[in-house]
Amino acid sequence: MTNRWFETVAVAQRRARRQLPKSVYDALVAGSERGTTIDDNVAAFGELGFAPHVAEHPARRELATTVMGQPLSFPVVISPTGIQAVHPDGEVAVARAAASRGTAIGLSSFASKAMEEVVAANPKTFFQMYWMGSRDHIAERMQRARAAGCVGLIATLDWSFATGRDWGSPYIPERLDLRSALRLAPEALARPVWLWSYLRTGRLPALTVPNMARPGQPAPTFFGAYGEWMQTPPPTWDDVAWMVSSWGGPFMLKGVIRVDDAKRAVQAGVTAISVSNHGGNNLDGTPATIRALPSIVRAVGDEVEVLLDGGVRRGSDVVKALALGARAVMVGRAPLWGLAANGQTGVENVLDVLRSGIESTLRALGRPSVHELSEDDVVAPAGFFRQLG
Ligand SMILES: Cc1cc2nc3c(=O)[nH]c(=O)nc-3n(C[C@H](O)[C@H](O)[C@H](O)COP(=O)(O)O)c2cc1C
Repeated sequence: MTNRWFETVAVAQRRARRQLPKSVYDALVAGSERGTTIDDNVAAFGELGFAPHVAEHPARRELATTVMGQPLSFPVVISPTGIQAVHPDGEVAVARAAASRGTAIGLSSFASKAMEEVVAANPKTFFQMYWMGSRDHIAERMQRARAAGCVGLIATLDWSFATGRDWGSPYIPERLDLRSALRLAPEALARPVWLWSYLRTGRLPALTVPNMARPGQPAPTFFGAYGEWMQTPPPTWDDVAWMVSSWGGPFMLKGVIRVDDAKRAVQAGVTAISVSNHGGNNLDGTPATIRALPSIVRAVGDEVEVLLDGGVRRGSDVVKALALGARAVMVGRAPLWGLAANGQTGVENVLDVLRSGIESTLRALGRPSVHELSEDDVVAPAGFFRQLG
């Protein structure tokens, strides 16, 4: 029997590529236009170095923290992603993996599993919403999330509906009917492990978004919901403040990259922000989030929790983000590679890789806790940082 444990996120990504049909793999890579931002998110972490101490290292290290009131065993949260068709267990497998490793999950509006099922698998679930539909529709979805037991809301605002990619976009059908199944058959047949994982459940990916269903109505298709989103006028800061007060609990604004927006988010009453560029899937040319993080922490870090997502692939990346002021990070693609490579166990494997990487980096730096990191632990080349706004 082959050993399916992988030692790095890069190995998980290679396995995901080998195991998933090309269209599904390409949908996870995503990115936009030239891919400048998606590449910079990862490359920027590589430009940062460390300044380790050599003696008087503590014997034990503290990794636990809290995010939006939820205790976490280490400072990594699963970022919300629409993960249609990666694995039959989808977000439920991700939620179980996160629960088994003591952390929280952001559940996408475009998820393939109903929030009630996901919360049952991991009570530390933050529901993620876009600004789509009327205020009444949005309030209705919040009410469902509250009733389901979601412990926080994530509002994601950074999206431009640009789709062009120089490396080509995957074919994603509206629904899996005979015509689309025939078109996808050659790539699915070339990935028998993935195909079998669905065939043995007796169903193919539904490509619907159950968390966008109106009360008593069937789940819309992914593209049906996407169309509603495209037709919704973009939100104002008043809309954000309305969302915060309508939700009435822990609230994160995801997608902030400018200092002035961070300040507006604080005025709107948010609990947390995630410095994010949607993993490079939105406006290409937006700088890597780690470059913008310190300026945002300086501006609002005393008032709200500041997280970062984008480009985190190893535990040492997490430590760099914490040293530059993040309270925790969120990871998008890394758990998806794990899920594709080995289901729930693969996501646990990714979380373990990140956790042990944080642990060993703290050890090498000589730091006793994720709460006692500072800029002094990191070496940044001249001109590395960006202050936007
Ligand atoms: C395939 C894919 C789907 C995503 N779907 C969502 C989503 O539905 N909602 C959301 O807020 N962010 C979404 N994101 C963005 C992630 O939450 C996160 O910001 C990003 O992936 C972080 O970058 P990383 O992948 O380098 O960790 C998605 C990202 C990817 C790669």
